[in-house]
Amino acid sequence: MRTPLIAGNWKMNNTRAQARELVQALIPLVTGLQGVEICVCPPFTALDATLQAIGDSGIRLGAQNTFWEEKGAWTSQISPDMLVEAGCAYVIIGHSETRGRFGTVDGTLAARLGYFGETDATINAKAKLALAKGLIPIICCGETIDERRAGRTDEVVRGQIRACLEGLAPEQIAGLVIAYEPVWAIGTGEVCEAGEADRVCGLIRQTVREMAGDAAADAVRVLYGGSVNDRNAAELLAKPEIDGALVGGASLKADSFSVICKAAAQG
Ligand code: 13P
Repeated sequence: MRTPLIAGNWKMNNTRAQARELVQALIPLVTGLQGVEICVCPPFTALDATLQAIGDSGIRLGAQNTFWEEKGAWTSQISPDMLVEAGCAYVIIGHSETRGRFGTVDGTLAARLGYFGETDATINAKAKLALAKGLIPIICCGETIDERRAGRTDEVVRGQIRACLEGLAPEQIAGLVIAYEPVWAIGTGEVCEAGEADRVCGLIRQTVREMAGDAAADAVRVLYGGSVNDRNAAELLAKPEIDGALVGGASLKADSFSVICKAAAQG
């Protein structure tokens, strides 16, 4: 039985004061929920303030990225050791916004904003070090709208999973989290239809099965992300292959995020 995970990716939102306010509003709304794990992923600057606000509520802390080297001359990067020290349990790796796979921003702006040099190989290296340091990676994958229209969704997603998980032991894969986030559904309000999201999450689990065997495939949690909100969460989370959600915009309001958490809870 996989415990569903609802993770809020705050992206570049919330100062320290706003982070505290949001978590303080969230705690009473999710206290007592059973059978669901809840995680919030603030910007690096708000990690400690968020941790303080979390207190003993049971909400987990995650970061939005990390690096594949332990330390050294890597200006701007944050190591897994630093995240562990800051109280993180989870770390998002390979979000499409760091992979440079924006689907909706075009032209010069995309060229400026859309590419952080992330590839399947850097994601794989980051996941290996994060796991070695005791963090749980949330590895993101997903196709662009052009890839979907060309009928390449399955090939793209399977290729990403194979490359991102390469060289990991089955026990390591069993403990991590994969998020299927179709790029065209992120921040657009255009959610992937629940049946199709379930199908692709199942395809991801099948890919893990081929790579790492039944135990890893049955244990690994596969989340859906992309325009999840308080109205569509219940239908998505009822699907057998969807083990939770990675939530952007709707995680910035305690009300909507708590409704999504409740939809995943067992009681
Ligand atoms: P939205 O929920 O805002 O579409 O963002 C999804 C996402 O990118 C979560 O990582």
